[in-house]
Formats: sequence, structure tokens, C-alpha cells
Amino acid sequence: METQIYKAKQFNLSGLQGISDQTLEMHFKLYEGYVKATNDFNARIAEILSDGKVDQEEMPAYSELTRRLGFEYNGMVLHEYYFGNLKKNGGGDPKRGSSFMKETEESFGSYDIWKTDFVGIGKMRGVGWAICYQDPTTGRLSNHWVTLHESGNVAGYIPVLVMDVWEHAFLLDYKPAERSKYIEAFFSNVDWNVVGERVQGAAAQSTRRARAG
Ligand SMILES: [Fe+2]
Repeated sequence: METQIYKAKQFNLSGLQGISDQTLEMHFKLYEGYVKATNDFNARIAEILSDGKVDQEEMPAYSELTRRLGFEYNGMVLHEYYFGNLKKNGGGDPKRGSSFMKETEESFGSYDIWKTDFVGIGKMRGVGWAICYQDPTTGRLSNHWVTLHESGNVAGYIPVLVMDVWEHAFLLDYKPAERSKYIEAFFSNVDWNVVGERVQGAAAQSTRRARAG
């Protein structure tokens, strides 16, 4: 069985506002850990499968590896979305008339209400993620809380804006009780062009599905 080997992506993000290079360096290392663990678990599962069966004595290890795989995979992928929607000199609000702005208006009534919801989710207690997804079949945006990395993702929905609110994302720069300052810093670095491209990507997928249907 050919096992997919993932490579850690490189992100050039030094000089963000309110999120230090030191935090980013530490965060990249954590991300690389998820990539390594995903590869490692995939290889170990492939090894178990290599003789074409899962023996009774292999079942406990096989089950545990498979259960933990969702955590590692989502830890890898969500960090790529998160780093990918940040940039130096980003921030502000999305452009008026941009696809993301229009979608927030259609789905929430206004961008401000969308943002209130997204920020509110980001302030929720616990470790996890605030994620704005787009439903590729309707184009609608919705904001969700994801616990750890794997609980709460909506199957088939496209992540368009991803904010890490695990404490490691901000603890070198802010106190645990200052998460709202980190969220402000996050918004001052958002790459709205990338967010717009993700929204358009979701729209294109929806069109393809409609045609196929
Ligand atoms: Fe993280």
C-alpha cells in the first residue's frame, strides 16, 4: 500500500502585529509535530495492513492509532489554514463588494454580526478553534467551535477563516485571560485575499456539483 507522506509547509509570517515571531516559531514547531505524527501513524497503520488483515492481537493498537489519527490530521490541516489566512500588513475589514463581505451579508445580515459571532466563538472557554465555513452546496457561511482539532468540523464544508484559540497561540504574548487581545491581533493580520479565494473556491465547487447533478 502506497502511504501518503505529508511535508510541512513553510509560512513567511515574521513581523505580524501583536503575534510575536517567537510565538510563530514555537507554533510552527507544534505544527510540524502534527505533520510528523500524521505520517508516523499512517505508516504504522499501513504496516499493520501490509499482510492484508488486522489480526486479533493487532486490533487494540490499530484501533488506537486510527482514533488518534483524526486529532493529528486535523491538527496538521487546520494549522495550514490558520497560518495561510495570516499575512504581514494584512487586517482591516474585507473590501466592500468582495465575495466574503457579500456572503457575510447574505448569511448573517451584516459583516458586523458575522464578526460578533466569530469573535464570540473565539472567546469561548476551552481549547480549540473558531472557524468560519462555507457550505459548498448553498454558499452560506456559518461559524463553528471546534474542540481540540477534530470535534465539531462540519463534513464537506470549506473552512474560509480559521482562528486558533488554543493557549499556545498567544500565551507568550498575552495572559490567559487576555484572549480578546489576541483575537484583536489576529484580525489585524488577516489575509482577506486568501479568504476571498477560499470563498470563490467553494462557489466553484458548488457550481460543479450543480452541473454534475
Ligand atoms: Fe495551534
